[in-house]
Amino acid sequence: MASAYPRLAIDLAAPCPEPLASLFPGAVDEVRLEIGFGGGEHLVAEAIAAPQAGFIGVEPFVEGMAKAVAAISDQAIANIRLYDGDAVHLLDWLPPKSLRRVDLLYPDPWPKRRHFKRRFVNPGNLDRIARVLSPGGTFRVASDIDGYIAWTLFHLLRRDDFFWTAETADDWREPFAGWPGTRYEAKALAAGRKPTYLAFQRT
Ligand SMILES: C[S@@+](CC[C@H](N)C(=O)[O-])C[C@H]1O[C@@H](n2cnc3c(N)ncnc32)[C@H](O)[C@@H]1O
Repeated sequence: MASAYPRLAIDLAAPCPEPLASLFPGAVDEVRLEIGFGGGEHLVAEAIAAPQAGFIGVEPFVEGMAKAVAAISDQAIANIRLYDGDAVHLLDWLPPKSLRRVDLLYPDPWPKRRHFKRRFVNPGNLDRIARVLSPGGTFRVASDIDGYIAWTLFHLLRRDDFFWTAETADDWREPFAGWPGTRYEAKALAAGRKPTYLAFQRT
């Protein structure tokens, strides 16, 4: 963390570089964001699979961040940048229409009614995500908690700046194309829970 993290970290005290793609040392033709990447397994797999894209990963949990930094450093992955705080701050720092995709994978479910207000999917954060996605960009949410899926659909389907792309049941029952899985998902599957995969397109 001491030697590798500073080279990968995004400094929100500095102005956002223009264009955002210049955050990355090599040329990238789009930028994607993963919110709450846990140990970074999905982020790293996606960055290796799509070297033409730049990836920003956000994770405040220090052990998860350390694991991702070690993987990125060991494998000399050049198309990932990291932020170790609340994704809200990163979203507010990003320029409008600067991202092609935002992934929110297995967000903390906050299952008790009195904690619903802590859920990452909420009207304010959806406004933030809508602001930074370019038209036609994608917001993906995966969860094994049916109540969180219902909550997400409730909040997204009432908006006119996103539409749900599913056409058949398999579009939400089956993982996204090229899906490498996540660590949390593997635990959910092992416990017998069935994930749901939602993709929304920015209008
Ligand atoms: C249930 S875990 C899932 C981790 C990973 N996405 C996976 O599927 O293995 C949720 C993660 O979201 C992170 N998180 C929670 N609130 C966050 C926020 N406001 N900004 C960024 N990450 C957040 C947590 O630290 C945690 O690592």
